Amino acid sequence: MSVTERERDAVQEHLVPTDQAEEARRSWSALKAVQLDEIAVSDLYQLGIGAFSPLDGFVSEDDYHAIVETMRLTSGHIWSIPVTLPVSEDVARTLRLDETVALVRPDGMVCGRMTIRHMYRPNLDHEAEQVYRTRDLEHPGVRRLYERGGVYLGGPVEVLPDERVDEFTPYAYTPRQTRAAFRERGWRTVVGFQTRNPVHRAHEYIQKVALEMVDGLFLNPLVGPTKADDVPADVRLRAYQAILEHYYPRDRVFFGVYKAAMRYAGPREAVMHALVRRNFGCTHFIVGRDHAGVGNYYGTFDAQRIFDRFDVAELGITPLFFDNAFYCRKCQGMATAKTCPHGDDDHVTLSGTKVRQMLREGIAPPPEFSRPEVVQVLMEYYAKQA
Ligand code: ADX
Repeated sequence: MSVTERERDAVQEHLVPTDQAEEARRSWSALKAVQLDEIAVSDLYQLGIGAFSPLDGFVSEDDYHAIVETMRLTSGHIWSIPVTLPVSEDVARTLRLDETVALVRPDGMVCGRMTIRHMYRPNLDHEAEQVYRTRDLEHPGVRRLYERGGVYLGGPVEVLPDERVDEFTPYAYTPRQTRAAFRERGWRTVVGFQTRNPVHRAHEYIQKVALEMVDGLFLNPLVGPTKADDVPADVRLRAYQAILEHYYPRDRVFFGVYKAAMRYAGPREAVMHALVRRNFGCTHFIVGRDHAGVGNYYGTFDAQRIFDRFDVAELGITPLFFDNAFYCRKCQGMATAKTCPHGDDDHVTLSGTKVRQMLREGIAPPPEFSRPEVVQVLMEYYAKQA
């Protein structure tokens, strides 16, 4: 897979070296400031560490159109969701093309700089339809799309290393670091797993089925901005630690967080998730049922079908598709429709909404659905919410 190798080598960081960061921050503070929202901040850091390679900044107008229409950059590289920097009309009026601006976090800290090479007004209705397949404002990704500014800035970025320390810091790696970690372990094949949920039995099952075929598992939960009723990332972190401690072999799993925002864009986001994990050094990527979906906007396996449009060699990562997984009482184990002949009555399946409702009411989901150690963490959290 020579293309794979080439794509992997193409991961580019856009980070200021740590020993130059303070000086850069000081001098960039004198530049005109552009305020970023939480999504733009998380995107900026992903651009900085090279997780979004080959993007080198917020996308140009031409790339924006190419992504929206064809899921490719003008260079021909596959990229499925435009990474944009929206500002309001009022802010746009204060900015000029070719001006270099400081990028400022909501907490007031300068986190990067950008030369504004492009300033353009997107057709949000069209972007929503193409990227999210709906304009429905009930869709959390679409709502955010319309809530953010109506003028997009594009240009290459330089990013200061994230100096904030929190519970995720020990698990935040750059693609360069994860690749080195996989190499050190001697892993030639690594399967990446995206999740915005606690790891329940179905997740564990598909991860372990995949792990039977590769050298290592990169458990890479998204911990950037999510919708309000998703389980908060800090609670999930405790749940991941609990399940890793009790149910996973230490030498076969690498745990790291993915600090990007969730788009809930289903199929298109599945492709982006795969490309990002390729950048982190994975050779395989799990796509199960309704990957990155929300509500009933996407067909259960649309996020798998979208990969038909791409050649694996060009993607640089092999998607592994899984049917809907569940515990079957007759089989006495985890299974999917592919491996279990029994009916729905024998299957333990709970929707995310149902699980949250149970937890809110202090009812523990059964061990066939979720490991008791995970349930305990979630019950503690929901008890405090009550
Ligand atoms: S996601 O938005 O991050 O995709 P989630 O955390 O629910 O949501 O899913 C993580 C991965 O596990 C996705 O690839 C998803 O398709 C898969 N998945 C989740 N639940 C199941 C299940 N019951 N059966 C098969 N795949 C599943």
